[in-house]
Amino acid sequence: MSTLTLEATRLTADPARLQARLETFAALSEPGSGPGVTRLAYTPLEREAHAVFADEMRSLGLTVWTDAAGNTIAERGGTVPGLPALGTGSHLDSVPNAGAYDGIAGVVAAMETARLYDQHDVAHAHPVRFIAFAAEEGARFGQACTGSRIVAGLTGPEDLAAKRDAHGTTMADALRAVGFSPEEVAEARWQPEEWAAFVELHIEQGSVLESTGTPIGVVDLISGSTRVLLEVAGRASHTGGTPMHLRADAMAAAAEIVLLIESVANDSRHHGTRATVGRMDATPGSITTIAGKVELYVDVRDVDSDRQRLTAAEIVERAQALCVRRGVRLTAHTLADASPVILPGWLRESVAGTCRRLGVDYRVLPSGASHDAQMVNRVVPTGMVFVPSRDGISHSPVEWTGADELALGTDVLASALLALDRLLAPTRGQDDCHRDHHHGDRKETGA
Ligand code: GLV
Ligand code: MN
Ligand code: MN
Repeated sequence: MSTLTLEATRLTADPARLQARLETFAALSEPGSGPGVTRLAYTPLEREAHAVFADEMRSLGLTVWTDAAGNTIAERGGTVPGLPALGTGSHLDSVPNAGAYDGIAGVVAAMETARLYDQHDVAHAHPVRFIAFAAEEGARFGQACTGSRIVAGLTGPEDLAAKRDAHGTTMADALRAVGFSPEEVAEARWQPEEWAAFVELHIEQGSVLESTGTPIGVVDLISGSTRVLLEVAGRASHTGGTPMHLRADAMAAAAEIVLLIESVANDSRHHGTRATVGRMDATPGSITTIAGKVELYVDVRDVDSDRQRLTAAEIVERAQALCVRRGVRLTAHTLADASPVILPGWLRESVAGTCRRLGVDYRVLPSGASHDAQMVNRVVPTGMVFVPSRDGISHSPVEWTGADELALGTDVLASALLALDRLLAPTRGQDDCHRDHHHGDRKETGA
């Protein structure tokens, strides 16, 4: 392997190759599921996508394995034996009726990076791992980032047995059905000493980059989320026979709760809080029956962990009072809870330095969405690169990022990893001090 210097050669991603991979993954969608891509967590289709990733990585001569959580990891060896790994990647599952980019952009960028290193015979001191995480989306089981939570030691067998999808299938059973053993997921855990740094590329899923005409975002904070299931129990009864004043209408109470949640997040004390009811299930769900029960799925997101939890608690308390007034009963269950994360400043500055060296305009910005980066940062210092999302839309079939925009993000990613390789490689006589120094700079984060 020859040594490539960043000054001498710019690694330039191929937009057509990126686009072709995006289309290959987009074709793996649940038949009859409607518009866009539906490839839910821990389904056979998700596994098919992982196999596509693994095949290309193997074709480049990388060592590929799948861990006990279903994450697929491809390693390109480093030139200095025994060094910890650099990593990049994102997820291959989707929400229902998704676009083709959320998660996938980061995986195809990782694949392109591996291909560029191969083509240009790039040598790096640290091994570099290209990763497709499993089950990042919380859409199926309520909890997001399961594959990365497992590697970070944040989710174990009890949690997998407790989380259920809309059909009542537990996450543990879903894992079994695609060939994994939920009892063994701890084997997938990452140890801090095995890792040097990680960088995830993702679409922004917001409109800051597009509206400011900036091609690259470097993420400083990632929002947390508290997810709560509110069950409103009223009294099912005939819509014609029951006078208005004798009703205990769970649907009317639920409607008021939805508006309450919107107003809580909009009020002046909650700047930056995002609270949403994205799903509501009514029972018995008939046009001629007053709803006896309504379940509301509430997602509270914030970059301030106290405010996130306090807002969720305030919503439950005020919904409770509202239900008492309406003569219905409220029960609240926490479905999932993840803290916001501050990504390490030194790593952000290193990625920003790569942008400056490449002459690429960037801005530092927070992420409103959750990411695998948020979880793996518990184990390995992590950075994130954002590329623009057209109209800021995501979790929708119209989600779109130009292949050229993704290619520029990939250029930054491929070079940023090499810059980190140089930054973190032990210099003679210094051994591991350099790396330890950077680990020491890490901010305490929770997830
Ligand atoms: C993950 O995509 C999220 O919902 O933030
Ligand atoms: Mn994502
Ligand atoms: Mn998503």
